[in-house]
Amino acid sequence: MIVGIESTAHTFGVGVVSDGKILSNVRDGYTTESGGIIPMDAARHHVEVGERVWEESLEVAGVSESDVDGIAISQAPGLAPCLIEGMKFAKKKAKELGVCLIPVNHCVAHLEIGRITGAKDPVLLYASGANTQVIAYAAGRYRVFGETLDIGIGNFIDNFARYLGLGFPGGPKIMELALEGEYVELPYSIKGMDVAFSGLLTNLKQKKEKGLRVEDLSFSLQETAFAMLVEAAERALAHTGKKELVLGGGVGCNTRLQEMCRLMCEERGCKFFVPANEFLIDNGGMIAYLGEIMFDAGIFVEGDEIDELDIDSKQRTDMVEVEWK
Ligand code: ATP
Ligand code: FE2
Repeated sequence: MIVGIESTAHTFGVGVVSDGKILSNVRDGYTTESGGIIPMDAARHHVEVGERVWEESLEVAGVSESDVDGIAISQAPGLAPCLIEGMKFAKKKAKELGVCLIPVNHCVAHLEIGRITGAKDPVLLYASGANTQVIAYAAGRYRVFGETLDIGIGNFIDNFARYLGLGFPGGPKIMELALEGEYVELPYSIKGMDVAFSGLLTNLKQKKEKGLRVEDLSFSLQETAFAMLVEAAERALAHTGKKELVLGGGVGCNTRLQEMCRLMCEERGCKFFVPANEFLIDNGGMIAYLGEIMFDAGIFVEGDEIDELDIDSKQRTDMVEVEWK
């Protein structure tokens, strides 16, 4: 039985996994009314909710602390203050319970949880807050075929939402507004399998100042930015010859993005997979899920090594040596 703790950014989550089955996935997210995410506030949030989320998750799973064999912790990458609080919490629990710690890369967990959909050898479109990457696994690593050259798709959407005074997270609110919108042309920026959003963001803000409707801007934002992602993913499918696409990361909750991916896959004769929303947005379940796989492969730290384990706020997806496959 492995417990996973997520705390890289806005969410404190705890999940319990046994034999690849996710028994619980409890999360508490930091939100704001109008501003963006303030790292120190988010870290404080994690300290406040930590114990309660832990207890609730074990209760939902129907297990007690004595059943726990190891604790997986999202060690990298993310906001340093948030990572630090999560690591402190995990170390304290590991010592109390006398179990090992499993250091998990958050981005790789977003990718590996895609396995629960049944995909075997997919291209992954990882669309989250800080990250936007088109990835496939080859020879011991997740290889990045294309990515954003500036900001992540989620941060881009959140930034525009914040500009409109909508608060954090902005993705779901923009999705609502888009339902009432009509198309206006926006700059489309893709080179090969790389995309960029900052020019699009500036253009959207300018159009807002000129008095265009927020509904139309939200709709067009989605149509344009998601078309870029789908084009990059399609190119990666063509390049690798793979026949499956898995969508991951919090922006994957967007039903329009899901629809566009599904259509592209249908046209190419590929299969499309997307996990349930609770496994797309940051969550402890995905950390526990990958944690168990790593634990079974003997990748963990115990005893005195636990104190030496440190966070790594910058570790990239393709830096992780995938020793468990
Ligand atoms: P990363 O995984 O890159 O470190 P993160 O952990 O902050 O980033 P996630 O929790 O995976 O990101 O995703 C959060 C993002 O998902 C936010 O930017 C949020 O606005 C976005 N999001 C959530 N729901 C939706 C939606 N329905 N449509 C678009 N975006 C959404
Ligand atoms: Fe994430």
